[in-house]
Amino acid sequence: MTAGEPALRGDYSRAGPDYAVEQQWDRYTEADHALYRRLYQRQSHLVRRFACTEYLQSLERLQAGGAIPRFDAVSARLRAATRWELVAVPGLIPNHAFFDHLAHRRFPVTVWLRRPEEFDYIVEPDVFHDFFGHVPLLFDPVFADYLQAYGEGGLKAERLNAIDYLARLYWFTVEFGLVMSGAGLRAYGAGLLSSPLELPYSVEDPAPARLPFDLMRIMRTPYVIDRMQERYFVIDNFDQLFDATAADFAPLYARLTQDVSG
Ligand code: PHE
Ligand code: FE
Repeated sequence: MTAGEPALRGDYSRAGPDYAVEQQWDRYTEADHALYRRLYQRQSHLVRRFACTEYLQSLERLQAGGAIPRFDAVSARLRAATRWELVAVPGLIPNHAFFDHLAHRRFPVTVWLRRPEEFDYIVEPDVFHDFFGHVPLLFDPVFADYLQAYGEGGLKAERLNAIDYLARLYWFTVEFGLVMSGAGLRAYGAGLLSSPLELPYSVEDPAPARLPFDLMRIMRTPYVIDRMQERYFVIDNFDQLFDATAADFAPLYARLTQDVSG
C-alpha cells in the first residue's frame, strides 16, 4: 500500500501466509444480511438490462439474494462446475498472494460488508462486490480458464517487473470489461456489475469511449480507480479474450518498457 490509499479494513491478524481466513459466517448480523439483500435487490434489476447472458444465467442459478452467502457451499458447486473455489480473505491482499490464488483456481472473496452510508459507492472491494460482481462468471468455463491464465501471467509478470502493465489488463477486462453480444452491448466486468451508477453509464451514456479490445493499447492505458471510467474496451466473446491473451507476454513487456524509456 502506498501513501494516500485508504487504510485496510479487515482483520489481517488471523490471516495465514496466503491471506486466507475463516469466513465466520455466524458473525454476520441481521443488519449485515439486510443491507446485503438491499444491495442485491437493486443490482439484480439493473443487471437484467445491462449484464451479459453468461453472467445472468449463473446469477440466477446461484439464488444468492436472501443473505450473505456461505462461501463453502458456493465452493462445492463451483468445484463441480469449473474446478474453481472461493477463499475468504480479510480484504485487499498483496499481488503475489492474489496471483497465486488465481493460478490455482481459487478466487479471493472479502469477508466484510460495506457500511450503510456506502450503499451507492465503495472504493475497496467488499463481500458484495466480490461475490455479486465476480463469482457468477467463475461458472463460465472459458472465463474461468482466462482468470487462471491471468493468475499464472501475474506470477510471470512479477518476475519480469511488468505488473503495472498486466494490472491494466485485469482492470479493463475482469473489472470494467464490456462485450458486444447478440443482444447488444453488455457488461461483464465486476466493477460494473456491482455498481448502480457505472453499470448503466458504461453501456448507455454517450460520454465514455468504447474501443475494440486491443491488448497492447490496454497495457499502455493508465486508469483511475475512484471515478467513472473515460474508456471501456469491448470484446466479442470470452473466446476472443482467451485467445488474444494466450501468447507469451515477455516480448510485449519488453516493447512496452522501451516505449517509456526510448
Ligand atoms: N499469456 C500471458 C503471458 O505469457 C499470460 C496471461 C494470460 C496474461 C491471460 C493475462 C491473461 O504472460
Ligand atoms: Fe473486483
